[in-house]
Amino acid sequence: MTAPIISGKQVAEDIRKDLRLEVEQLSKAGLTPGLAVVIVGEDPASQVYVKHKEKACHELGYYSEVHRLSGSSTQEELLSLVDKLNHQNNIHGILVQLPLPKHMDEKKVINAIEVSKDVDGFHPVNVGNLVIGDDSLLPCTPAGVIELIKRTGLEISGKHAVVIGRSNIVGKPVSLLLQRENATVTMCHSRTQNMKELTQLADILVVGIGKANFVDASFVKPGAVVIDVGVNRLDNGKLAGDVDFESVKQVSGPITPVPGGVGPMTITMLMQNTLLAAKRLTG
Ligand code: GUN
Repeated sequence: MTAPIISGKQVAEDIRKDLRLEVEQLSKAGLTPGLAVVIVGEDPASQVYVKHKEKACHELGYYSEVHRLSGSSTQEELLSLVDKLNHQNNIHGILVQLPLPKHMDEKKVINAIEVSKDVDGFHPVNVGNLVIGDDSLLPCTPAGVIELIKRTGLEISGKHAVVIGRSNIVGKPVSLLLQRENATVTMCHSRTQNMKELTQLADILVVGIGKANFVDASFVKPGAVVIDVGVNRLDNGKLAGDVDFESVKQVSGPITPVPGGVGPMTITMLMQNTLLAAKRLTG
């Protein structure tokens, strides 16, 4: 018996359908959610991500602006653009695509984004609100992870969740969101000893460490939900997750593939955040 596959692609499509309808209604009532995306320089992967975000806005009926700054722009130019967008009434979400060129200070730029428009959920005030459990804009990938777990039908409350990886953009926020859902959470990372002994106890295993095929079946309790946040480019050009999918699906419960798992959820959560920001800013 192999495990059911959680199609992030399908879940993302379902959520987008609902977003499209809601945005259509809101637009008729005079509020079109607006997203501004800022990209600095020519990083090819970033260019692709930004195109996808622009396309999502177009398909779901959002207003969008993409600001392309040259790699030789100054930090002051970027900060002055962010300031302008902070004050622009038709823009409810601002996303500065990372990484920024080396001569810019990412923290300073993120801190300059108006908290209520920080649809990435990267601003320290939004991070702090997440920690203390107050309303905030949630970071997109972690929010997508929780949504996928919920869609398996598993009751998260009371379960043991193990998160491998402690990054600011995946592991830490995922662990906080799981705690908010009343899971008991164990964090594992590169220095964890006897990791398998911990992961074998997990009802929910979330993996985001950036090591291709790191988790095999020997890490996994039979029937556990497995969410793979890894995106690794192999030497043969193919994408691989942090989970050895073919091995793990022999023992796990519902499991996400790569590609087609968490990936498609990230932009969908960005669109959901932008809608939420628009409603909060105008409501
Ligand atoms: N670069 C890669 N992923 C992301 C993301 O989620 N947000 C931003 N701002 N930059 C990124």
